[in-house]
Amino acid sequence: MTFVRVAEANEIPIGEMKHVEVEGTEILLANVGGKFFAVGDRCTHLSSLLSNGSLNNTIVTCPRHFASFDVTTGKAISGPSQRLPTYEVKVEGENVFVNL
Ligand code: FES
Repeated sequence: MTFVRVAEANEIPIGEMKHVEVEGTEILLANVGGKFFAVGDRCTHLSSLLSNGSLNNTIVTCPRHFASFDVTTGKAISGPSQRLPTYEVKVEGENVFVNL
């Protein structure tokens, strides 16, 4: 488990999300009210990229069949879905790191 730099904070404005990859792991990085959260970026239904969906406060909605997940916990909110993996995030200066 090590922290890996994945983005600059200013790349992801409040309310936005970004797809990043670390050593083959696909991660959705979301900025909720100025705080960053990281979860797996593949929908646990049929693997669509959640970062292509929409983010409303803490809830990301899958673009394909509209399952939804809380990016702060990984919990599945609606749809035929298991929870998403979650990753610890830290910000140092402008750099955003995810713990894998
Ligand atoms: S692939 Fe995401 S809801 Fe079906």
